[in-house]
Amino acid sequence: MYRSRPEGSIDREILNYLSSLKDDFAIFFYDIIGSEAHVIMLHEIGYLSREELVEILQALEEAKNHPKSIMKKDEYEDVHESIESFVVEKIGMGNGGMLQTARSRNDQVMTDLKMKVRNDINEISVLLGGLVESLLKSADSNKDTIMLLYTHLQHAQIGTFSHYLLSYTEALFRDMERLEELYTRINQSPLGSLAIGGSTLSVDRNRTASLLGFDQLSINSIDATTSRDVILEYLSCLSILMITLSRIAEDLILWSTDEFKYIELADSVSSTSSAMPQKKNPDPLEILRSKSGGILGNLTASMTILKGLPSGYSRDLQELKSLVFSSTSTTESSLSILRIVIESCIVHKSRMLELAKRSFANAIDVAEFLTSKEHLDFRSAHKLVGSLVRLAICNGKHTLEDLGGKDIEQLLHASGDRISMETLKEIIVACGAENSLTLRKSKGSPSHSEQVEMILHNQMRLINFRERTRKRKQAISNAYDELSKIVRSYTLTS
Ligand code: ARG
Repeated sequence: MYRSRPEGSIDREILNYLSSLKDDFAIFFYDIIGSEAHVIMLHEIGYLSREELVEILQALEEAKNHPKSIMKKDEYEDVHESIESFVVEKIGMGNGGMLQTARSRNDQVMTDLKMKVRNDINEISVLLGGLVESLLKSADSNKDTIMLLYTHLQHAQIGTFSHYLLSYTEALFRDMERLEELYTRINQSPLGSLAIGGSTLSVDRNRTASLLGFDQLSINSIDATTSRDVILEYLSCLSILMITLSRIAEDLILWSTDEFKYIELADSVSSTSSAMPQKKNPDPLEILRSKSGGILGNLTASMTILKGLPSGYSRDLQELKSLVFSSTSTTESSLSILRIVIESCIVHKSRMLELAKRSFANAIDVAEFLTSKEHLDFRSAHKLVGSLVRLAICNGKHTLEDLGGKDIEQLLHASGDRISMETLKEIIVACGAENSLTLRKSKGSPSHSEQVEMILHNQMRLINFRERTRKRKQAISNAYDELSKIVRSYTLTS
C-alpha cells in the first residue's frame, strides 16, 4: 500500500517481523475516530469536498464494525495501513486516497496511543477507587482490632489492623494523584504534526484536538511525534502502583500462614495442591506479586528502547505498544483481584490481640510514660525498660506484666532508685496492649479518634477523586458523542 519508491512487494518474512497488527487491536477504535476527526477537519478547511468526506466517513464507519476481518489481513504492517487499505478498497483510490492527506503514521500512532492511555488511566482510576473503598470499609470495621506493628519484621509497637489498612490507602491515593497529574500531559494532541515537520496545508490542529477530546496540543511537531517520556511516566506510575499492591499481597501471604494466622483467605480465592490434601494456598496473591515484577520489566524494557534513539520517529517506538498494553491489563486485573481477596478475607481479631498482648511491643509506651509523667529523661527510661525486657526474657516471661515485683525492685535499685516499684508496675499496667492505644496522642497514630478521623478524611478524598474521574470520563464521552453526531450528520443526510 505504501510502496512508492521500493519496487515490488516486501519480503513476507520481513513483513511478519515488522508487523504490529497483533498489538494494534487495542488502538483500532482510536485509529478510526482519529481518521474521522482528521477528514472532517480537512473538509472544514476546504481540502476535501463534501462528497469525498461522506464517502470516506461511510467507509470508516463500516470499518469500525469489522475490526476482526480488517485486522486479520496479514499483508499489512499495522492498523493504519489496514484501515486505509480498507477505505481505498471500498471507495476507490480517487476518494480513499485522500484519507492520509496531511497526516503521517507518526502523528497518527501517537494520537491513538494517547487516546488509549488516557482511557486506561480513567479505567485504572475507577478500579483504584474500588480497591480503596474496600480498604476503607475493612478499616472501619477494624478500628479496634489491636495488632502488632512490625519493623524489620520484628515486634515494634501496638497498633490496629485499621491503621495498617489506612497506611496503604495513603499510598494508593498518591498513586491516584500521580495518574491524574500525568493525565494532563497525556491529553495533548499530536495530530497534524505529520511525520516530523508539519504540513504545507493549513491543517487546523485545534479542531482535531477538540473533536477527539484533547485539552491541548502537543505543540512542537518533532516532540509530538517522537517523544515517549509520557509513556515512560505512565509505566512508572503503574510500576509504583504495582509495587504497592505487591507489598499488600506479601503481607497478606505472610499473615495467612499458620505461624501468624492473622487472616484467612476465603476458599473461593484459594488454590490447593495436587499432592497435599490439607493445602490452602494464596496463589492469586503470589501471581500478583510476580506480575508486578513483569511490569517493572516492561518499564525497564521501554526505557532501554528509548535511551539511544535519535531525534525523530524510529520504528523501535512501535515495540513500546505491547509493553504498555500488557502493563495496563495486568494492573487492571491485579487491582480487581486484590479487591476480591480483601473483601472476602476473614480477619482473626482474637489471634491478633493475643499476640499483641503476649509481646513487649508496649515497651516504648512505658518508656514514654516514664518520661512524660515521671520526668525521667528518655534515654534513662529507654535503658530502664530495655533492662526490664531483657530480665523478663531471661526469666522466660513474655510480657512486662509478667515480671515479679522482686525482680523489678532489684533492677530499679541498680539503676539508682529514681522510681518506685509500685509506680513502675502501675505504669506497665496502664500501658497494656489495649490501654496503650488510648495513650497515643500524635496525629496519624492508631488511637481510636485518629482512625475515625483518617477514615472520614479518606472517604471524602475518595468521593472527590471519583468525581474528578467521572468528569474526565464524561468529557471524553461527550467529545466522542459529539464526533459521532457530526459523522452521522454527513453520512445520514447524503
Ligand atoms: N506501526 C507503527 C508504530 O506502531 C506506526 C508508525 C510507522 N511509521 C513509520 N514511519 N514507519 O509505531
